[in-house]
This record gives sequence, C-alpha cells and structure tokens, in this order.
Amino acid sequence: MASNGDTFMELDRATAQPPRLIDPYQRAITYLRVSVTDRCDFRCVYCMSENMAFLPKADLLSLEELDRLCSAFIAKGVTKLRLTGGEPLVRRGIMTLVESLSRHLSTGALKELTLTTNGSQLAKYATELKALGVKRINVSLDTLDADKFRAITRWGEIDRVLGGIDAALAAGLQVKINAVALKGVNEDEIGDLVAWAHGRGMDLTVIEVMPLGDIGETRLDQYLPLSMVRARLAERYSLEDIDYRTGGPARYVRVKETGGRLGFITPLTHNFCESCNRVRITCTGTLYMCLGHDDAADLRAPLRASEGNDLLYAAIDEAITRKPKGHDFVIDRRHQRPALARHMSVTGG
Ligand SMILES: C[S@@+](CC[C@H](N)C(=O)[O-])C[C@H]1O[C@@H](n2cnc3c(N)ncnc32)[C@H](O)[C@@H]1O
Ligand code: SF4
Repeated sequence: MASNGDTFMELDRATAQPPRLIDPYQRAITYLRVSVTDRCDFRCVYCMSENMAFLPKADLLSLEELDRLCSAFIAKGVTKLRLTGGEPLVRRGIMTLVESLSRHLSTGALKELTLTTNGSQLAKYATELKALGVKRINVSLDTLDADKFRAITRWGEIDRVLGGIDAALAAGLQVKINAVALKGVNEDEIGDLVAWAHGRGMDLTVIEVMPLGDIGETRLDQYLPLSMVRARLAERYSLEDIDYRTGGPARYVRVKETGGRLGFITPLTHNFCESCNRVRITCTGTLYMCLGHDDAADLRAPLRASEGNDLLYAAIDEAITRKPKGHDFVIDRRHQRPALARHMSVTGG
C-alpha cells in the first residue's frame, strides 16, 4: 500500500504541468498549427497539383486523438492554436474538435483558437465558430475576379467564398485576408484588394510563393518578390511602417488612405526565423519543427502507445531539441525544383 508521501507524489505527478517548450536557441514554443486534413475542395495552382494523391483516411488521427495531441501541447505552454489543412472546414465533424478545444479557452490555458480557411464552408460554420470562442480567422483569397479565381483554384466559385466572408463578418468574427502574390496573375490587382479588404474592416496580408511540393508548374513563373509588390503599391498609397505584430511572421504597414493594416510575409526575400515561436503537426501526427526543413518527429506512435501522456511529452521534448535555427528557401534559375517535396497542404502553411 502507498504511504501518504507516495500518494502526494502521485498527486503531484498528476497535477504538475510538464516542462515548457524552449528550443536550443532559447525560443519559447507557444504557437501550434495543426493540419486537420490534407484534403481540400480547391486545388490552388501554387499549393497542389491537379491530381493530388491524398492520404488514405485510415492514416489520419481521429478527432479525439487530435484533441489529445493539441491538449498535450497546451499543457506544455502552447497558448495559440491554429487549425488549418488542406481545408480544415471540410474535415467531417470538425466542429466537434473546435468545441472540445474551446474548453482550454474557458480555463485560460489557451489564449487564442483560430483557423485558416479558404472560406468555402464559412457560410455554414461562421456563427458556430464565433459561439465557440473563435475571435479571428484568416481567409485566403488571391483575387476578386471570378474567372481568375476559378483559374487559380482550378474550379472554385468566388461567390461562395465572398458569401462565407460576409457570414463571418456578420457573425462578428475578425477576418484577415491572405493573398499569395502571383506573377502575371494578381500582381495588378493587389491595390484593389487593399481597397476592398480595408473598406470592409479586414486586414490584408500578402504572401510570397514558397517552393513547397511538386505542383506541376514552374515556381519561377509564379514567384513575385514582395519588394516589387510594395513598390507598386507605394505608387498608389502612402505606406507607413508600424510595429504591429500578431505573433506571426508578417511585417505590417498602415495604409494612410484607407487607415487599414497591410502585412507582408516574405520568407524568400527576408527570413523571419529569429523570432519563430511555432511548430506544426500534420493530420497523421507528424511534428514538423520548421516549415522549411524535412526533419520531423512521429507523435502518433507515442500517442497510441499508452493512455498516459508521458511518452508523448518525451517525444515532443526530444523533437524540440532538434528545432533548427532557420530555413533558407531559394527560387532562382538554378533551383527550379521544390526546396521540399512536401506540399503546403500537408503542414498547412
Ligand atoms: C495551405 S492553406 C490551408 C488552409 C486553407 N485551405 C486556405 O487556403 O486558407 C494555408 C495558406 O497557405 C497558402 N499557400 C499554399 N501554398 C503556398 C505556397 N506554395 N506558397 C505560399 N503560400 C502558400 C495559401 O494561400 C493559404 O493562405
Ligand atoms: S491553398 Fe488552401 S484552398 Fe488552396 S488548395 Fe491549398 S489547401 Fe486548398
């Protein structure tokens, strides 16, 4: 029989928080991005090939397992959690996961639960997301032109997405629009996207194309440095650098004429690794310590090996010791192939 001392040690072990996540470069890991599915209802040309091979459904973590995995990270100090994909809102039962994760908002352990979505299912889910404690969401939209939208997404209908954005705003969600800058496709339209987004009270962030995954097209054809986008925008708007940060890699300016915020994410022309606080997990439970490296850790095996979390915590701790200092994507004529074979839809960007 356990003595009183043993009993308290057991209690201690049960209630004590596992150690926080600090990487070898003294960066605290507080932000987890979770790809809940690799599937999507669109096939954006920079993200997927037309004939993507998706994972067999049996390989995916269940929603309960995803909840347990996220909760383990929250116990280890993660305070911001983003659901992404693929398209997170096409995962069957996704609202069950949002609902169960929202308990960590109620306890205060989690400061923010959010998602990145293509907007196609937002009309259906916006009100429920808001009711469950989601405050801000990112919606990806690269153009306001219906034909271009269909060409970029290979078959998406823009009205559905615009309807989804309307529903999100009506539900009281703060919406940030993400647009990937694409040479010869939307480069002449970014100024209009600024006017449109800011006119509706939404921030806009422009993103450089990253060389992830074989997409059956040449990256050099798509790549548009944001220095060029900014120079062009400066002909139309007054851009003032501001200190605003969302905990992400975007650098923001205030657009004087609209009063709105415009972010630039420039993984190629400017690395943002020094302040990286994030890691990513895939829908199969693989942990990627850096978006730009292939090194990963399998968390599915320790998750399934026992009901307790000790093995899982140990695997997470070990993986964080391998978080690299940074990444270096290059798109030029000598590097025509993807820097990594993995598609963005695997890790969710
Ligand atoms: C992979 S998607 C997943 C979430 C959701 N389906 C969406 O589109 O918002 C997340 C973000 O990654 C961006 N993205 C995808 N492939 C990219 C690439 N090769 N370079 C830069 N951004 C990319 C998308 O535009 C989107 O804003
Ligand atoms: S960017 Fe998002 S919407 Fe487009 S194909 Fe990738 S996962 Fe789907």
